[in-house]
Amino acid sequence: MEKREFARRRKRLMNMIDVGGIAIQPTAPERVRNRDVFYPHRPDSDFFYLTGFPEPEAIAVIVPDRPQGEFLLFCRERDPEAETWHGRRAGLDGACEFYGADDAFPISDLDDILPGLLENKERIYYTMGRYPEFDQRLVGWITRVNDKGRSGIHAPDQFVSLGHVLHESRLFKSHQEIKAMRRAASIAADAHRRAMSVCRPGMFEYQIEAELLHTFMQQGARSPAYPSIVGSGANSCILHYVENQDQLKDGDLLLIDAGAEYDCYASDITRTFPINGNFSKEQAAVYEVVLEAQLAAIAEVQPGNTWNMPHEAAVEVITRGLVGLGILKGRVAKLIREELYRPYYMHKTGHWLGMDVHDVGDYKIIDEWRTFEAGMVTTVEPGLYLSPTIRGLAKRWWNIGIRIEDDVLVTKTGHEVLSANAPKLIDDIESLMHQDRAA
Ligand code: GLY
Ligand code: MN
Ligand code: MN
Repeated sequence: MEKREFARRRKRLMNMIDVGGIAIQPTAPERVRNRDVFYPHRPDSDFFYLTGFPEPEAIAVIVPDRPQGEFLLFCRERDPEAETWHGRRAGLDGACEFYGADDAFPISDLDDILPGLLENKERIYYTMGRYPEFDQRLVGWITRVNDKGRSGIHAPDQFVSLGHVLHESRLFKSHQEIKAMRRAASIAADAHRRAMSVCRPGMFEYQIEAELLHTFMQQGARSPAYPSIVGSGANSCILHYVENQDQLKDGDLLLIDAGAEYDCYASDITRTFPINGNFSKEQAAVYEVVLEAQLAAIAEVQPGNTWNMPHEAAVEVITRGLVGLGILKGRVAKLIREELYRPYYMHKTGHWLGMDVHDVGDYKIIDEWRTFEAGMVTTVEPGLYLSPTIRGLAKRWWNIGIRIEDDVLVTKTGHEVLSANAPKLIDDIESLMHQDRAA
């Protein structure tokens, strides 16, 4: 992502918060995995959106119209010894030179400097509750400023949710963000293709997960966007199955929900395919219902349509399909009204996608479902989960869990399926799987 892109985002934020406002956004704290081992650092999405700054222990402060500089970055100082042990740091000069900060200060000076920046401001833009320890520090700084009341100095008395302001902006992806998301989706689509190619009965779910990770890493996506779901047989009916340790059985399906994170942007793709390369009659029949539901839902992702329209389209096809399969009985409209499809399809058809896999942005405005507009990205992911735990379900349907999920960008004239390179037609899946078996 170019430096100018981050500058544009900050400018947009400054225009919204205006003179008298100050925005404060810490990055995510480092998190301990066990004892001396930390999880790989993932910046806070809002922080990274504004700064592009990848290091931990950093705070962005934005003060429109501050004569000495509007974008301040508090970060770690250069330290040759610490850098020898733990890796390079941009330092204060780097924060200005490479990340466009007008001024940079040592993170250790935060307590000394931040109260002064709050003096005589009217509004603080800050996201309360995300980092409770930082909330406490901020309250302390405000109290310190308030204590100066008799010197004619006042503290801001309005708190505005910075998250809410930024999330509206993050909902609409820029050209560069769309490029990153295309890449994230294309890497994940390649990973799904590889999984289909290598899959054989007798392998373990974690071995398929390894193949996904291999493709992600080979193409520069150092992390999945969320833990990959690799669920075979009965596990395909567990929505967020992540144990990934069972052996793949001939005749079962494999459901893979895996997306790559590229440049802090997520993809989120699900494909379901037969472990032996051939759908059984029952598997194919259920698959066709889910696929038809997914295509009908994708067709509703259009500017001007509302957020719930893809879901309604999917529910309609799924319910009609369940009747067609003989699993549900009755009139489709009544079954939908009474939500009798829910034991088989219990989740929504999509969510916003962006820097976070379940991305930010409101789904309703006041009480109305939001309208799709160009630049939004949503997933479309209907499924059917025919678990033996469902009362009265005939045995021939058991353990058929199918979800098909794509990432869809709303364009000015319709939509673009970012993840289209992952096969989803039965013929395409089977021929990819056969082709690699023959080789
Ligand atoms: N991978 C999580 C989801 O599909 O929502
Ligand atoms: Mn998913
Ligand atoms: Mn999803």
